[in-house]
Parts: sequence; structure tokens; C-alpha cells
Amino acid sequence: MKVLAVNGSPRKNGNTADMLKAVLDVCEKAGLETELYQAGGLPLRACLACEKCFSNPGKCVTQDWIQELYGKMKAADALILGSPTYYGDLTPEIKAVMDRCGYLSLSEGGVMKRKVGAAVTAVRRAGGLHTLDSMQHFFLIQGMIVPGSTYWNMSLSLEPGDFAKDEEGVGTMLNLGDNIVWLLQKINS
Ligand SMILES: Cc1cc2nc3c(=O)[nH]c(=O)nc-3n(C[C@H](O)[C@H](O)[C@H](O)COP(=O)(O)O)c2cc1C
Repeated sequence: MKVLAVNGSPRKNGNTADMLKAVLDVCEKAGLETELYQAGGLPLRACLACEKCFSNPGKCVTQDWIQELYGKMKAADALILGSPTYYGDLTPEIKAVMDRCGYLSLSEGGVMKRKVGAAVTAVRRAGGLHTLDSMQHFFLIQGMIVPGSTYWNMSLSLEPGDFAKDEEGVGTMLNLGDNIVWLLQKINS
């Protein structure tokens, strides 16, 4: 079973990346295959709403990293989206991934259905819940199954390295990883 995490922060080694690594580490220790995809900072093309994917299912007219990432999403059993909170919401990289991969999935009859989906966010102070909601809307409209943790999946962090100092945030990620493993094992038993 494979768990794919997407880091929507332009900081490759920032808090969102560290949060995702903490979750993936739990999954790896349980014997799952994992991959961390660095989306933040890549050149961005939004969905054009051309709907050409419906006549050519699974293929976007824009052939870039989001098309590549869509292939990885299809092959994964669980998808974790990670975004820092920017002005109370997610980064444009994650929004573009959701819009374009969401339509590509629809064009193929809903390939994300019943995969496991989880979102995490790094936030200095406020707006994190809205960021999580924005990502969870994607999972829910795709018919995905969303596990929880012991708090909402956020860490209170500003500068790189802050996540490790947020004891409750670290615990939340470890419990999230544990719940993802549990759920995947139940679904596939
Ligand atoms: C453009 C921008 C907007 C931000 N907006 C918010 C915000 O609305 N609320 C907040 O608490 N922190 C905000 N922050 C702080 C980030 O959420 C925080 O630094 C986070 O740890 C960044 O995660 P990263 O290390 O993964 O990049 C903002 C940071 C930037 C660069």
C-alpha cells in the first residue's frame, strides 16, 4: 500500500514538510510505501475549465508536473495534502492540484473514490481551520475517506524548525499517521 504526501509550501524543509514527514514516518514504520512530492514553488498553471479532459479522460491539455502528480495520486492508496496557511487559506499550488486533479479524476469516473485522504497545515496563529476545510472539501467531493487525529491536523509554527517544538502538533501528526495505517489496513483486509 502506498501513501503519497504533497507539500504545498515553497519551503522544502519548512514546517509543512516536517509535518508530512512525521506522518509518513509512522506509515513507513508500519510497512507502507511512502512518497513526499514537493509541489510548492513549481511553475503554476491553473485549471482552464476547457473540459477537454472529458473527451480525453485523464489527460490535461496542460502537460506539466500536475499531470505527473495525478498519475501518482491514482496509484496511491492514501493522499495527504499539506499546505501552510497563507492569509487564512491554502497555497495556489495545492489549489491548482485540487482543481486540475479533481477534474481529471471526474473525467475518469472518479478514480479517487474510497482512497484515504488527509490534510495538514502549518500556521503561525490563525486561519488554519479554514485551510484544512479547503483541502477536506476536495476529499469529500471525491468520495474519499477522511480519518481524524487527536486535534485538527495543524502545528503552530512560523519559522522552519518550529514544528518540532510544538509538542501537541507533533502528537497530532503521529496519531494521524497511526489512524491512516489503521484505516488502510481495515480497508484492505
Ligand atoms: C504569504 C504568507 C501568508 C501567511 N498568512 C498567515 C495567516 O493567515 N495566518 C497565520 O497564522 N500565519 C500566516 N503565515 C505564516 C505561515 O503560516 C507559517 O510561517 C508557516 O509555518 C509556514 O509553513 P512552512 O514552513 O511549511 O512554509 C503566512 C505566511 C506567509 C509567507
